[in-house]
Amino acid sequence: MRPRRPSWWSDAVFYEVYVRSFADSDGDGIGDLEGIRSRLDYLEQLGVDALWLTPFYRSPMADHGYDVSHPRDVDPMFGTLGDFDVLLTEAHRRGIRVTVDVVPNHTSNQHEWFKSALAAGRGSPERERYLFRDGRGPRGAEPPNNWVSVFGGPAWTRVPDGQWYLHLFAPQQPDLNWANADVRYDLERTLRFWLDRGVDGFRIDVAHGMSKPPGLPDMDPRAPEFGGGEYYDPRFDDDGVHEVHQMIRKVLDEYPDAMAVGEIWVHDEERLARYLRPDELHLAFNFRLVLTHFDADAMRTSIERSLAVPRAAGAPATWTLSNHDVWRAASRYGGGAAGVRRARAMALVELAMPGTIYLYQGEELGLPNVSLPPEAMADPRARTQGPEYSRDGERVPIPWEGTLPPYGFSRTPHTWLPMPPDWAGLTVARQLPDPESTLSLYRRALQLRKTHPAFRVGDDLEWYGAPAGCFAFRRGRGGLICALNTSASSIALPPGEVLLTSSPLVEGRLAPDSAVWLV
Ligand code: NOJ
Repeated sequence: MRPRRPSWWSDAVFYEVYVRSFADSDGDGIGDLEGIRSRLDYLEQLGVDALWLTPFYRSPMADHGYDVSHPRDVDPMFGTLGDFDVLLTEAHRRGIRVTVDVVPNHTSNQHEWFKSALAAGRGSPERERYLFRDGRGPRGAEPPNNWVSVFGGPAWTRVPDGQWYLHLFAPQQPDLNWANADVRYDLERTLRFWLDRGVDGFRIDVAHGMSKPPGLPDMDPRAPEFGGGEYYDPRFDDDGVHEVHQMIRKVLDEYPDAMAVGEIWVHDEERLARYLRPDELHLAFNFRLVLTHFDADAMRTSIERSLAVPRAAGAPATWTLSNHDVWRAASRYGGGAAGVRRARAMALVELAMPGTIYLYQGEELGLPNVSLPPEAMADPRARTQGPEYSRDGERVPIPWEGTLPPYGFSRTPHTWLPMPPDWAGLTVARQLPDPESTLSLYRRALQLRKTHPAFRVGDDLEWYGAPAGCFAFRRGRGGLICALNTSASSIALPPGEVLLTSSPLVEGRLAPDSAVWLV
């Protein structure tokens, strides 16, 4: 398919701000909007084009904001609507766009709608906004079907009058009924509310959720947590979801340059491409790099598959190595010094790609996952599925400066997740002046990506022959060359002039666990 006209997001570098953990301005140990505003200079220096802010709306915080009780207001924990407006204006003044999360699959159980659904009782229009059903078996004591929650256990919770309600995530996150007109109208209001304030777009949470098939048939219990794969899983990717995306797109099209990216965990390429049709989402997250271990052959396959879907749909490819739901790259690749070296190498591979990049706060510092004691964990998954499922390790606050926790993140050392005592060498202040630091590598790479002509050509990659455990490709004619070495020996460089390396060359050769850019 012919690519659509390039737009600002087609090759933008987005930076995910996990709001709770970026910067705390009021000393409660939790990040907030004013904290982000106060660190905009840093984001400008880093060289990102746009932010994705995780939910900062009113919420009881059962899933740290992904349980929204009012989608058109700011939770006092994070500030005020006024703080948001100031942040937006100041980011725009620096040429940084701002996109925000929306959570259309579910609300909080403290949302007015859910409270009135409980009060109004079975058969009421209030219950129609959610998925209430009678149970199976004698006296309806068994859940209505066998669906399991992504956070473990049954996806149904029983209410005092005997009915059950569906929640694909925590019990505090009841799923909305997308066949209900109020639900659709409310999302439209929410989109317009933030677009009218000036946001540049949205990240749509669980964008393959929302629609559920009539009759809610049983799932294959072997289906993976987020659905799809070879097993029948009616919880996700129901055909009806596309109507929702068409509705969203109609609203966005009224606002010039507004965009949406969907969080879509669909394994089948053809199914994924459907979300990128011209009247649906502009971008879909691509989690292939996140799911691939540090091996050149496996990475090459992931890259080729990642390029195929958007190419077929005429949309830009997207790339991400980490986010607030997955282990940080430095730890995924083995941890320690080797993990950081590999994460730096993969940063160069990722930033060499044509398309849109999504960075996650702290990856530019080479932060590892933090191993927290179970009593310090705050993720609802840790409670239902056990500490090994906790996502807290990748959500620890950002170390800004100083030698001890909270490293300038907050005024209090009692941060919402404890910060490790050995992060003095990882702070922004320590890394900024150090030319060898991971932060300096990211800054240089982002600057080259933005300014060097070798990045302006080639939406396709031409692969070179390379030794075992390595790959090399070129972007178009005269475009950037990138080589990755995941083997245990150093290798000769492809011909060309070196622009940047993820670790020093060894006698002119590319060291193990390293990547290089050449022109
Ligand atoms: C995906 C979000 O990224 C994750 O943090 C959240 O728990 C689930 N969606 C549920 O909203």
